Amino acid sequence: MIPEIRGERAGDEAAIAVVIGTAFGRHAEAGLVAALRSAGALSLSLVAAYDDDIVGHIAFSPVALTGNPDGAVVWGLGPLSVMPLHQKAGIGRMLVKAGLDQAEALGARAAVVLGDPAYYGRFGFVPAGLFGLEWDQPCPPGAFQVAALAERALAGLDGVVSYHAAFGAV
Ligand SMILES: CC(C)(COP(=O)(O)OP(=O)(O)OC[C@H]1O[C@@H](n2cnc3c(N)ncnc32)[C@H](O)[C@@H]1OP(=O)(O)O)[C@@H](O)C(=O)NCCC(=O)NCCS
Repeated sequence: MIPEIRGERAGDEAAIAVVIGTAFGRHAEAGLVAALRSAGALSLSLVAAYDDDIVGHIAFSPVALTGNPDGAVVWGLGPLSVMPLHQKAGIGRMLVKAGLDQAEALGARAAVVLGDPAYYGRFGFVPAGLFGLEWDQPCPPGAFQVAALAERALAGLDGVVSYHAAFGAV
């Protein structure tokens, strides 16, 4: 059965928090999404649902970039969560693909992610350092990645990337 991928609706907040908290096994990431929502910084929030049963979630929020002369919109992907019982069925892939498609449609020029290159590489993410982009925090080599959402999207972008302040609490 294929879940519906749809935008977060009013009333989904508690179920989303359960999905995120269960996937990560702790509350920090669910708290982060709640904080982004409260700050108006949840640029895109998609759920994977079987009718009313939400089993997956993906969040995007705007990031700041020191080298961004054209003011391009760049979004950070994450957190990404799928309920353990539903993992390895392609739901994470569906959420990432739908998220990147919608991010592009909503005007984002690129997306960045902090995660395993073995997972995110399949969606077009490459080490951000290849394009002169670095995260403002220490991280494992190759973990900070960028995906262009349009042709030549990364032209002119470089420098240090900062996530929303809410990420500081994670
Ligand atoms: C990461 C996660 C969202 C993937 O969801 P999913 O629905 O299982 O993903 P898919 O079914 O699309 O893909 C599963 C594949 O990704 C692989 N995979 C899962 N997590 C991975 C990781 N951290 N690194 C590399 N590969 C990973 C699986 O082994 C599987 O490989 P296969 O297709 O060769 O069998 C899910 O495992 C999860 O919620 N994990 C806990 C939270 C988390 O770590 N989120 C990501 C960091 S923001």
